[in-house]
Amino acid sequence: MTRILSVASECAPLVKTGGLADVVGALPGALAALGDEVKTLIPGYPSVIAQAKSTKTVGSFETLFGGPAKLLSAKVAGLDLLILDVPHLFDRPGGPYIDANGRDWVDNAERFAALSYAAAHVAREGAGGWTPQIVHGHDWQAGFVPEYLHTLGCAVPFVFTVHNIAFHGNVDAARLSTLRLDHTRFNSDHFEFWGQISALKAGLMGAAKINTVSQTYAEELKTEAFGMGMDGVLRARSVDLTGIVNGIDTAVWGPTADPAIKPYKTPRGKAANKKALLKEFGLKPSDGPLCVLVSRLTHQKGIDLLLDALPALLERGGQLALLGSGDPALEVALLELAASEPRVAVKIGYNEDLSHRMMAGGDAILVPSRFEPCGLTQLYGLRYGTIPLVALTGGLADTVINASPAALARGVATGVQFFPIDANALANAFARLCDFYVQPKLWAKLQGNAMKQPVGWETSAQAYHALYADLATG
Ligand code: ADP
Ligand code: GLC
Repeated sequence: MTRILSVASECAPLVKTGGLADVVGALPGALAALGDEVKTLIPGYPSVIAQAKSTKTVGSFETLFGGPAKLLSAKVAGLDLLILDVPHLFDRPGGPYIDANGRDWVDNAERFAALSYAAAHVAREGAGGWTPQIVHGHDWQAGFVPEYLHTLGCAVPFVFTVHNIAFHGNVDAARLSTLRLDHTRFNSDHFEFWGQISALKAGLMGAAKINTVSQTYAEELKTEAFGMGMDGVLRARSVDLTGIVNGIDTAVWGPTADPAIKPYKTPRGKAANKKALLKEFGLKPSDGPLCVLVSRLTHQKGIDLLLDALPALLERGGQLALLGSGDPALEVALLELAASEPRVAVKIGYNEDLSHRMMAGGDAILVPSRFEPCGLTQLYGLRYGTIPLVALTGGLADTVINASPAALARGVATGVQFFPIDANALANAFARLCDFYVQPKLWAKLQGNAMKQPVGWETSAQAYHALYADLATG
């Protein structure tokens, strides 16, 4: 049994902008089944404070990066939470990272430094009589934890999970003092990155162990093409870097007991959900596959490639139902396409329930990402018998078995992968998908294989469990 303090900027079901929240929200339960005890430290955004009905104050700071702060403990949705209540940093409208106009909060560095500082403080002093044996930080928002552990003289080991290397949390060196960082460590062995302060680099250099969320991404990260400038750092730390693929919370995501859908046990049960979904998106029944996509709309996710390749799907009678939000230019391009093309329907926004209905009602789930550390929607797709069509990269490479002639002959295929990651290869993949779709026996086999894939947390939770146990016993 190991006591772990997990530190993150998001945690489902309380606050979520992407897959990070799903992972941070689901892993503690899977670890509890193995005997570990996890408390999760998250910022006290207004929505988090509102959802934590009954809280207990377990710590306080007279001043934390410019104002007073409290540490609250609460139990929400089965999670043991420590909530960092710092009104001057977190009590404001807007998202976790951006204001109502879509601009990054100018004090993001201080906001998440405060979170990291509080984590180091809990590691040293405990909270409500509880002390962790491991601090496990997620992404750059927890990157300064090892720096503050050092400053506070605390030897508790730090595990760092990279969910996405694209976000560095870099700020100007002039903020060294306001961030309470040790000036003597502003060098390339610690958190200096091309003359700036980098929270991500601080985490990578200070962690006892680093992992990322798939084995393929762990390899990719060490290359110039994927490392986003941190590949040298990761090569230097490669002995301590592993890949542990994400699972999904099968209590929340599964077709047999999902309150948002018409539940089903076999792929045949998808028909009623498809009918409802077509109606909800204003689409007409057609001969081709109904492809769904649920995503942040960013360059990473290859939405522009999708727009270029889409004719190959539509000309075969396929359709697209898309839910997402993000880059305004992509939002406009998608809405314009939907307005002129009756086989395409787009909903801009964030809608958790609808995303469940799309998994249940879609024939195929699209993930045409340029890079994808793990990706969760293809895992949801597998579980719901919704065939993933994915780029061959990162976790998408590790979790989908491409319907190659060999895999089809062996009867093990679960989806369609494309490579290179460009519009041409995606168009070819659409053609293959449509070929499979019109062969009912083959399609049913793909669906059956998909639904049988082990996509829960069991195996990967074991890997985290072992990682913590090794470090905790020193
Ligand atoms: P990333 O973390 O890079 O965004 P993932 O595939 O790991 O990608 O996780 C995305 C998560 O966010 C999934 O749970 C997905 O269903 C959810 N999601 C993304 N966009 C939306 C949206 N517009 N509405 C509802 N859920 C969304
Ligand atoms: C990141 C990645 C995504 C991954 C998620 C959870 O947001 O972009 O691929 O699934 O984190 O680890």
